[in-house]
Amino acid sequence: MPTGSEVVPDGYEFVVVANRLPVDRQVEADGTTSWRRSPGGLVTALEPVMQKADGAWVGWSGAPGEADAPFDADGMRLVPVPLSAEEVADYYEGFSNATLWPLYHDVIVAPEFHRDWWDAYVRVNRRFAEAAAEQASHGATVWVQDYQLQLVPAVLRGLRPDLRIGFFNHIPFPPFEIFAQLPWRRQVIEGLLGADLLGFQRVQDANNFLRAVRRTAGLSTRGQSVRVQDAAGERRVRAHAFPISIDSAGLDAMARREDVVRRAAEIRAELGSPRRIALGVDRLDYTKGIRHRLKAWGELLEDGKVTPEDSVLVQVATPSRERVEHYRVLRDEIELTVGRINGDHSRLGTPAVHYLHHSYPREEMAALFLAADVMLVTSLRDGMNLVAKEYVASRHDERGVLVLSEFTGAADDLPQALKVNPHDIDGLKETILRALSMPDAEQARRMRALRRRVLDRDVARWADSFLSALQGPQP
Ligand code: ADP
Ligand code: F6P
Repeated sequence: MPTGSEVVPDGYEFVVVANRLPVDRQVEADGTTSWRRSPGGLVTALEPVMQKADGAWVGWSGAPGEADAPFDADGMRLVPVPLSAEEVADYYEGFSNATLWPLYHDVIVAPEFHRDWWDAYVRVNRRFAEAAAEQASHGATVWVQDYQLQLVPAVLRGLRPDLRIGFFNHIPFPPFEIFAQLPWRRQVIEGLLGADLLGFQRVQDANNFLRAVRRTAGLSTRGQSVRVQDAAGERRVRAHAFPISIDSAGLDAMARREDVVRRAAEIRAELGSPRRIALGVDRLDYTKGIRHRLKAWGELLEDGKVTPEDSVLVQVATPSRERVEHYRVLRDEIELTVGRINGDHSRLGTPAVHYLHHSYPREEMAALFLAADVMLVTSLRDGMNLVAKEYVASRHDERGVLVLSEFTGAADDLPQALKVNPHDIDGLKETILRALSMPDAEQARRMRALRRRVLDRDVARWADSFLSALQGPQP
C-alpha cells in the first residue's frame, strides 16, 4: 500500500497526531511486510477527514521497532513514529491501556499506577511532539488525538509557539473524584493546557476537565475557558463538546451497493431466515458490556423467551490489546460463556450464539448491519460508540432496532434508540424482547428519525466545527 518516501520540505499546514496510523504494519509468516487497517473508532472517524485534507498524519505503525520512512497511502501522507518493544509494553499497553483507559472509563477494572510506565509515557509523548513539530509548516494547525498523547500539546507549544494546537479526546474525561487518583494528574492537565482548543465527546466530559483544571492547577475557569500564563504570555484555552461521527453518506452508499445487499441476504439465509438476528460488534474490550449482553441473552434462552429456532445472537469481537492482562481474562470469560450458552441451548446445525473473533472488511460489516434485526450496543462506558451510528447509516431500508446503552456518548445523539442500563439485566432482557418484536411501522418511524440525525451530523461536520473553532479568531 505505501508509495513514495520523500518529506515535503516546507512542511504541512495541517498535521494530525494520533497514537496509531490508520494502517497497521503486519509481518507475515514469510517475513514480508503488509499493511492492514487499524482497529477502532478513531481511525474510522479520522480517515475520511484526512483523505480529503492535504495534511500529514503522524502516528505509530502498530508494531515495535524502527520507524518506516514516511509514505503515502489512500490519499494520505503517513509519518510513522517508532516505539521500541519496551515502550509498547510501558507506554501503550501499560500507561495508556492499563492506567488511563480504566481510569477514564469509570474504573470498570482497577487502574495500575507504575512510575516506569509514566516515564515511558513522558518520553514517547515528547517523541510524538517532536515528530509533529518537524512536519508542521510555520503557523500550521496541529490536531492532537486522544488520551495516549495528553502531554503533546504543551511539549509542542514549547517547541513551536507559532502553531495553532487542538486536542480531541475520543474517550470520556472522568469526574474529578476518579481523575484525582492519578499520581500525575497535574502534569496531565498542564500537558492538555498547551492546546488552544480542547474537544470532548460530551458536555459532561468538557465540564469534568474544567473542574480538574480548577482543582489540580488552581486556575479559575470562566464559562468554557481558562486563562493560562506561559513563556509566550497569557493565552485563553477553551474546552467544548464536539460529538464525533462517521462518514454517514459513504456508509449509506456502501450499504446500498448491489453486492452488499446481496451479501446481507446471503447472511440471513445462512443464519436460517426467518430467524431474527441480534448483532453485537465490538473491540473485545471490558468497557463494551459484552458479558452483560451474553448474560441477558443466555437468560432469555433459559426462560424460553427466545429459542435458537426463532432467534440468533451474532457477536463479532475484534481482537484488541491482547497482551494486556484484563483483555486476556475477558477473552477467556467471553469464550467460556459463549461455549456454555451454546452447550446448553444450541441444536445440531442451529447454534444459539455465533461468536466471531475476527476483523472484517467494511463491506462485510455493512452487510452484517443490514442483515441484523436488532443491534445491541451495551457499553458500560464509551466516549461515543460509533458502531451505533454505523448501524443507523447502513439501514437505508428503514428497518432494524438499535438498543443503546445510556452510558455511551452516542446516547445523547440518538434519542430514538431504545435506551438501556446494561447493569440492569432484567431491563436489558425486556428491551431486547421489545426490540425483537417491534412492529415494522415503529421500526421505520424510529429509524427514519435516527437516520436524519446521523446523515446530517456526519464526521465532516464534526471536523469542520472543531477546526473552524480552532482556526477562527482567538477570543
Ligand atoms: P472503539 O473506538 O472503542 O473501538 P467504536 O464503536 O467507536 O469503538 O468504533 C469501533 C470501530 O471499529 C467501528 O468503526 C467498527 O465498525 C469497527 N469494528 C469493530 N469490530 C470490527 C470488526 N470485527 N471488523 C471490522 N471493523 C470492526
Ligand atoms: O477511540 C478509542 C481508541 O482507544 C482509539 O484511541 C484507538 O485507536 C482505538 O480505540 C483502538 O484501540 P487501540 O489503538 O489500542 O487498538
